[in-house]
Amino acid sequence: MKREQWGSRAGFILAAVGSAIGLGNIWRFPYMAYENGGGAFFIPYLFAMISAGIPFMIMEFTLGHKLRGAAPRAFAKLGGKLEWLGWFQVFIAAVIAVYYVAVIGWAISYLGFSFTQSWGADTNAFFFGEYLQLGDNSPTKLGFLQTHIAFPMILAWGITFAAIFTGVKSGIERASKIMMPLLFIMVLGLITRVLFLPGALDGLNYLFQPDFSKILDAKVWSAAYGQIFFTLSVGFSIMIAYSSYLPEKSDINNNAFMTVLINCGFSITAGVLVFAVLGYMAQEQAKPLTEVVSAGVGLAFVTIPAAINLLPAPYILGPLFFLALVVAGLSSHISIIEAVTSAIIDKLNWTRKKAASVVCGVGFIVSMAFATNGGLLLLDLVDYFINNVALLTSCLIELIVIGWLLKMADIREYANNLSEFSIGKWFEVCIRFLSPAMLALILITNLSNTLS
Ligand code: PHE
Ligand code: NA
Repeated sequence: MKREQWGSRAGFILAAVGSAIGLGNIWRFPYMAYENGGGAFFIPYLFAMISAGIPFMIMEFTLGHKLRGAAPRAFAKLGGKLEWLGWFQVFIAAVIAVYYVAVIGWAISYLGFSFTQSWGADTNAFFFGEYLQLGDNSPTKLGFLQTHIAFPMILAWGITFAAIFTGVKSGIERASKIMMPLLFIMVLGLITRVLFLPGALDGLNYLFQPDFSKILDAKVWSAAYGQIFFTLSVGFSIMIAYSSYLPEKSDINNNAFMTVLINCGFSITAGVLVFAVLGYMAQEQAKPLTEVVSAGVGLAFVTIPAAINLLPAPYILGPLFFLALVVAGLSSHISIIEAVTSAIIDKLNWTRKKAASVVCGVGFIVSMAFATNGGLLLLDLVDYFINNVALLTSCLIELIVIGWLLKMADIREYANNLSEFSIGKWFEVCIRFLSPAMLALILITNLSNTLS
């Protein structure tokens, strides 16, 4: 059977960008930058982007293009019994998928609430108490579960399923071509309105004000690298699967640079959006900004709703924000599920329709556990483990095993031959020495911090 192919170059880039741009860009990047030295965070962040993100993306695009499979098959073709590494990555992708979609589900619920701000004045009590029903010992009310948890999950999985089931070109590519332009327009619209609010510029000052004392802190570097790998969706078979559908003639280097730069540019844009809103909120409530910011899920589901309460025309800006979050999340979710699905198609020779049905069916059931009350605890744990251990380990193993098993000079030549502009020897240095060394250091620091 002939392997499926993307219909156009723009289609592939939009799909890759759709995977990269996700929840992580909108709610994770802004507070990571803020917590880790503000403007000074951009130094480790850009360093990680150039020295690890771009080379890694070029390597994965090349592997997919050359070996024509998701990670398990691609790595198996390299011989040396490397298939396990591919399955390990697919497994982590599957774990990410089931908790990631829970957050998308919340965003769908909040999209609904945002039209009338039905979260009320105390957005903290609403989210944790009423919505997630934490600390409420009575068994979850069934009606509530249906409307606020099950319905959004069915919707999220339904859209993902439709895209994967329909195929690479008419499903995933078409969805990306609708979702990504829509996302960019919504975010630009939001930013243009929000930047003119009083206090917005103070918010940006906070975000970009450099705290150089943090730059020698290992935690800051760890955060920058972790964020780069998470945000670019590398190390989980995703970009290998997507590039395995590239046509023969495809500009690898250019595609990789575009994907990375659009993603990171979007993150900074989202940072501006979020901090402009926070600056406005601080001014309205006459509080210092430090008392207004929050991290993690609290930012998207407690702080932002509270800020929306204060905005002019909240019934427009609120839905725009949450729809942007939903769209960004769904296009990433589609890519994670495609990584799992295509690995199964490669291995078991199932039809796409069968593989998509089984993967989405099982995924839906497991993810329901994360979306209900007990789930939040689990979600926090899994999120911590994925970001601080699994993600870095997976990327480190790939860099060491693939970077040292294959001749990176050959990979570079392969990519350069297909591309308009060539990349230099720095590629090999970054893949084989610099990035593994940085990752190993970070991993050791994280592990010793966890244990102590
Ligand atoms: N890159 C996506 C984001 O920034 C999330 C993601 C992570 C997608 C890992 C796939 C794999 O939100
Ligand atoms: Na991203």
